[in-house]
Amino acid sequence: MHFSDRIQALKISPIRRLIPYADAAKAQGKKVYHLNIGQPDIKTPQGYFDAIHKFTTDTIAYQPSQGILPLREAIANYYQGFGVPFEPDDIYVTCGGSEALSFAVNILCDPGDELLVPEPFYANYNTFTRLSLAKIVPIPTKAETGFHLPPEEVVESLITPRTRAFWVSHPCNPTGVFYTPDEVHMLCRLAKKHDLFVIADEAYREFVYEAGEYMSFGQVEDAHDRVIMIDSVSKRYSVCGARIGWIAIKNKEFNAQVMKLCQGRLSVSEIEQIGVTELYRTTPKSYLQEVNKEYKMRRDVLYKGLKAIDGAVCHEPKGAFYTMVKFPIDSSEKFIIWMLQNFDINGETTMAAPGNGFYADPNKGLDEMRIAYVLKKEDLEKALNILKHAIEAYPGRLAIKA
Ligand SMILES: Cc1ncc(COP(=O)(O)O)c(C=O)c1O
Repeated sequence: MHFSDRIQALKISPIRRLIPYADAAKAQGKKVYHLNIGQPDIKTPQGYFDAIHKFTTDTIAYQPSQGILPLREAIANYYQGFGVPFEPDDIYVTCGGSEALSFAVNILCDPGDELLVPEPFYANYNTFTRLSLAKIVPIPTKAETGFHLPPEEVVESLITPRTRAFWVSHPCNPTGVFYTPDEVHMLCRLAKKHDLFVIADEAYREFVYEAGEYMSFGQVEDAHDRVIMIDSVSKRYSVCGARIGWIAIKNKEFNAQVMKLCQGRLSVSEIEQIGVTELYRTTPKSYLQEVNKEYKMRRDVLYKGLKAIDGAVCHEPKGAFYTMVKFPIDSSEKFIIWMLQNFDINGETTMAAPGNGFYADPNKGLDEMRIAYVLKKEDLEKALNILKHAIEAYPGRLAIKA
């Protein structure tokens, strides 16, 4: 049996690869708090279900490869609401933001081409890059500086003749940073100067906990033909299973390439597009405000809980619903397995994602974990308390550096 080198180079998701250990803990009757996965527990707005219940047709047919017009109109209208001038023609509906990301990398990269990505980064960026035989060149960031970008000259020094784009998650999964308007302008300026694109993954745009500072890459007027917007309703409207996202740019040449890929996979699900169109049409603004309030409260609970853990190196996440934390342990993977197998408080234990999957080099981030705060307050408090006591009891705990 032969499998391609490129498929064998892919790794199992760090978010999911320890799930068999969680399943074994559950089989022993333990309750496991999942801080490993970004599956929100927030209720999907009713409009989605109403539209789907109303839907009737004689034949479930292929839909336009670019996506149905009412959805693209609703999305364009959404962007225009905050000053991003997308028209329905600029938008290509995809199977989640994930497909949009894979399209972007395939359109930009030949084997050996480079993408500049602030590290740590969303683990699937490795998946899409490796499949294209391209390479992520990390822009190093760290908790101590809130995961913000290094100075412009450092970022610029990483650009080579093989660089094709900057690629940012903004707000960021896994670090929780969102970039300042100065950083947004800096990347766009460098992209223009060196003839690069910016892949702006803004799937968490509404999850920002500092009023007034967030700027979309789509708002940079003189970079409209270089900003490849990646977006998704998965987290925005808590419809991860609907699998609706899109790629958008004001650049006809780029869009002609996107169309080839859209036509290659024919169509996205009709009923899901109808459901999501209704979400945009009928969900009151107060829904997103309420969800934001809930996550801000969870963020505060998380940060308080992490600060109570001796030796944890973390920063206050400002957006999305994740953070990367360094702990005084020999290996986060060993620790998580140990916690699932050997540690509980009253039959309850916690799971997080090992940090190294969020780096280009799997030997980095070995003492880090990515933590998602998608649980309700009481559960999050219990999960963090378990984590604190588990770290204190863990045989591979290291001495805390002064
Ligand atoms: C940063 C980031 N981008 C893109 C995605 C893809 O989401 P989806 O394919 O559900 O739209 C995710 C999902 O977790 C994500 O965290």
